[in-house]
Amino acid sequence: MNNYIFAGCDTVKLAEKYKTPLYVMSEDYIKDRLREIREDFLDKNPKTMAVYASKAFLTKEMARIIKESGIGMDVVSGGELYTAIQVEFPMEKIIFHGNNKTIDELELAIENNVGRIVVDHLEEMDIIEEIAKKHNKKVHILFRISPGIDSHTHKYIQTGQVDSKFGIPLDEKTIKTAMEKVLKLEFTELLGFHFHIGSQISDNGNHIKAIQIMTQLMKKVKDEYGFIVKELNTGGGYGIHYSESEERKPLAYFTDSIIEEIEDRCKEYELERPLVIIEPGRWVVGEAGITIYTIGAIKEIPGIRTYVSIDGGMPDNPRPSLYEAKYEAIVINKAEEELTDVVTVAGKCCESGDILIWDLKVPKVETGDMLAVLSTGAYNYSMSSNYNRIPRPAVVMLSEGKDRLIVKRENYDDILRNDI
Ligand code: LLP
Repeated sequence: MNNYIFAGCDTVKLAEKYKTPLYVMSEDYIKDRLREIREDFLDKNPKTMAVYASKAFLTKEMARIIKESGIGMDVVSGGELYTAIQVEFPMEKIIFHGNNKTIDELELAIENNVGRIVVDHLEEMDIIEEIAKKHNKKVHILFRISPGIDSHTHKYIQTGQVDSKFGIPLDEKTIKTAMEKVLKLEFTELLGFHFHIGSQISDNGNHIKAIQIMTQLMKKVKDEYGFIVKELNTGGGYGIHYSESEERKPLAYFTDSIIEEIEDRCKEYELERPLVIIEPGRWVVGEAGITIYTIGAIKEIPGIRTYVSIDGGMPDNPRPSLYEAKYEAIVINKAEEELTDVVTVAGKCCESGDILIWDLKVPKVETGDMLAVLSTGAYNYSMSSNYNRIPRPAVVMLSEGKDRLIVKRENYDDILRNDI
């Protein structure tokens, strides 16, 4: 067999059945990660909660899979929340984030009783209090704190540094204003703090540093305001394998030391150990997905490089052009053949930056061959666009060797859908 097998399925047959470009996701892989979260984090450590960061990949079917797993969900927009509502996701397990939630989004969240809203700036508390009062509901909030840590990742996916659009800055005056304000609110109850230091993080040093800062803050608010932090949300950001230098570590690599550090610091500061929340997104779905393309134009620039163009590109995967993200890929109908050539995989957009992979080793390729780009499960479908009026690919879910369509391929009428 010369074809590439992914999650027990022949990828060439999938491409023939559903056409390309095609997003393919493995439910078995996603369920393995969700099981790892349950067994190695939730069951192992008391007083813990896990939510899936749905911005990484969300469709109704994905929301159903998460719902079935018993794990909660992090949403960052009305659209993500609406998807959860549509599958009757248990609302108490939803955490609503965002640095600029609109009033409509907050209304939707409060009407539907989401479990926690993460407040990102001080004025947001007034809006929440007003809506909560109108609905006569108690709303639970966390403060997102910007711990002032520079994580070693691409600057567009760092979030915890001092100069960040996210979170409440950790300075004396701001914290004082925030605490004095929240303790006066009637319909809004602060449960604790949240931080998220960035994404595609491969070692735990900065999580540990952030915990040291956050536990000091916990002590400070206890001493100065008598406020006991009941929950500490440590965000997500656990890295995965995209290319040679990157690997996905077991969840426990991150969470064991997070829990240990929180417990040690709480002991040191004589604090009660809070409920610890994690929010992985990429780690759950990143390696669960591949994208299959058909190779079209092949252009050799003698002595310089060979461009192999595919029938997709930056509209279905903007990460290489946005973050210089690296990917691996396989010519799926020649999976066993020797890698004799080096080519550059170009997307079909009218844009020089639309290159998916520079210098990929491949067997001898010809027009009509098919390519699977690996580890595209996170931040691909969810970040896709219709740039150049290109319809979005379909999404197929694989489970135990069987395939099912979970998102239809867009057609040209879908592109025109809202045009007047
Ligand atoms: N929690 C919060 C508050 C976040 O802001 C994020 C990601 C996560 C959890 C989940 O992070 P993860 O575990 O997936 O790394 N589009 C970028 C990634 C942006 C991540 C933004 N926030 C990319 O394609 O790399």
